[in-house]
Amino acid sequence: MNATRREFLQQTGAMAAGAATFSVARAANANGRLTVGIIGPGGMGSHHLNQLGRNPRVDIAYVCDVDANRLAAAQKNVEKLKGAVPKAVSDMRRVFEDKSVDAVFIATPDHWHAPATLLACDAGKHVYVEKPASHNLREGRLMIEAARRNKCVVQMGTQTRSAAGIREAMELLHGGAIGDILVAKAWNSQRRGTIGKTQPGTPPAHLDFDSWLGPVPVVPFRSNMLPGIWRWWHDFGTGDMGNDGVHDLDVARWGLGVQTHPSRICAMGGKYFFDDDMQWPDTQNVLFEYAPDAKGRTRQLIFEMRIWSPYVLEGHENGCAYYGTKGHMLLGKANGWKLYEGNKVVKEGPGGPDLPGHHADFFDCIASGARPRADIEIGHLSSSLCHLGNIAIRTGRMLRFDPKTEQIVGDAESNKLVGRTYREHWATPKGA
Ligand SMILES: NC(=O)c1ccc[n+]([C@@H]2O[C@H](COP(=O)([O-])OP(=O)(O)OC[C@H]3O[C@@H](n4cnc5c(N)ncnc54)[C@H](O)[C@@H]3O)[C@@H](O)[C@H]2O)c1
Repeated sequence: MNATRREFLQQTGAMAAGAATFSVARAANANGRLTVGIIGPGGMGSHHLNQLGRNPRVDIAYVCDVDANRLAAAQKNVEKLKGAVPKAVSDMRRVFEDKSVDAVFIATPDHWHAPATLLACDAGKHVYVEKPASHNLREGRLMIEAARRNKCVVQMGTQTRSAAGIREAMELLHGGAIGDILVAKAWNSQRRGTIGKTQPGTPPAHLDFDSWLGPVPVVPFRSNMLPGIWRWWHDFGTGDMGNDGVHDLDVARWGLGVQTHPSRICAMGGKYFFDDDMQWPDTQNVLFEYAPDAKGRTRQLIFEMRIWSPYVLEGHENGCAYYGTKGHMLLGKANGWKLYEGNKVVKEGPGGPDLPGHHADFFDCIASGARPRADIEIGHLSSSLCHLGNIAIRTGRMLRFDPKTEQIVGDAESNKLVGRTYREHWATPKGA
């Protein structure tokens, strides 16, 4: 190990015994800082930019967007925060081919998460990728393989994983505070806006719509795909289950303590409220059953979603409940948790999320080689719940899923939705 690398590890307190190490070039540059590129500095990407712009551990060398307006705004913003002008590019390959870049933040729409992550890892970059990890289940597996093959840190953007209050709640649950947890529930209960109805139209001049589509088969542009509302279209998003739901499903699964996929999934839901172009359900209830574990225990995860409710559930817009053999816990993603013995509250704690803490964990892991808190394997298990719940809704079937092969058993039609169709494009995932 050379002096620079040793100093960087000492500075970050990351010389953990036995930790795997990455190549010196990708651990830190000569002054112990990390050089990053931000891909998709739109809604969430701007939050990353603002956070990274204030982080003294980081130099922002690139901003990359296919929307010229957003690209120009991001470049200006980095200059204001860092006092240095980053390169502004519209093709992410320019970022990946630059050897001085250590890591990239990917905050594009969901359909670009896996294609961009695969290219980034194969170029040797560490990746912070927004949630849900993937647009479909097959992509998630390819992302794990790419991360491991290239020894890259890949962290999913479920920043609640880094919130101290939530971490304390998980320690209590895993320490047996409510006994053996047989059932957990995650919910989203909020009022969202309609996306209206539109006809195919012409993309605005500042948007390179073909690059925005990337490897997705060409569909006409519609004004109610952007900005942000692409998430309600099958081709680009994953519905609210993959939008807000994935945060809560991730925390519910974490507390339930399952580190595999469910083996039975059934769901009901649809468009019960909105009369618009939205393709994903506005109402969705999903049951996941996990096959008996080493202790012989079968466990269940419940997801409940209504995005037309002008009120919250149990005091929380986004929340989780854990039902144990001795007690239960109610946890609001933002507002904190309460631990009950019988019907009495015996302990309380704060909620999350913690975006700076999640960034810090990512950077610490680049230095130490440890797996991050929302490592891509964790991200894949939680994102897969969204994909399986959505498949069950789309086909109207109860799914039997083989956690080892990651295939839906005995139902070829549903199993087709484990992956997707791509067009021929430089970013089409190999092996998908
Ligand atoms: N972690 C969180 O709490 C959180 C919150 C909101 C959104 N998100 C996630 O962040 C991601 C982005 O969501 P959003 O609401 O910010 O969407 P958005 O549409 O506002 O932003 C996406 C940006 O990516 C750009 N883009 C699209 N294709 C690109 C490409 N090929 N190369 C470069 N840039 C490209 C778009 O032009 C846009 O500026 C989603 O995956 C979403 O789930 C996470």
